[in-house]
Amino acid sequence: MSSAVPENPLSGAEQQRLRDLAQTAAENSYSPYSHFRVGAALLFTDGSIVTGCNVENASYRLTSCAEQAAIARAVAERGPNIRLRAVAVANLNGAPSMPCGACRQTLSEFGNDDVLILYPGEDGTDESTTLGALLPHAFRMQFLDPK
Ligand code: THU
Repeated sequence: MSSAVPENPLSGAEQQRLRDLAQTAAENSYSPYSHFRVGAALLFTDGSIVTGCNVENASYRLTSCAEQAAIARAVAERGPNIRLRAVAVANLNGAPSMPCGACRQTLSEFGNDDVLILYPGEDGTDESTTLGALLPHAFRMQFLDPK
């Protein structure tokens, strides 16, 4: 059974590093339309970290969120067996932001309910939750081939 509290929680220093990497990744954001500069840092179970930023498009709906860009980069660089341990999201706009609905589903493809999600809350506070709390009842690959 999956638990909301990871057995091996990240230390405060590890969490801060992941938040910092997400913040740095946001500096490369391509966001000439929204001007909302987002970065994501993904920590995998093997200890590796991959970052990404949002990439917008004149055809607005083609925008990639930072989390989606980071997942695509991680698969391209590390292959299909990546498993998430934690995700940090940051923005350079001083705004509260957590992964959007589509990103929650994208992340759930590569992580279970206890993946730690670090995000900026109101008034610049550091907030955290889990993927399972953000997206209960995710649509999973097992549903495609019921036995
Ligand atoms: N955005 C992300 O990168 N991640 C999210 O989870 C929420 C939204 C981006 C998409 C768009 O470029 C900008 O933020 C405004 O929605």
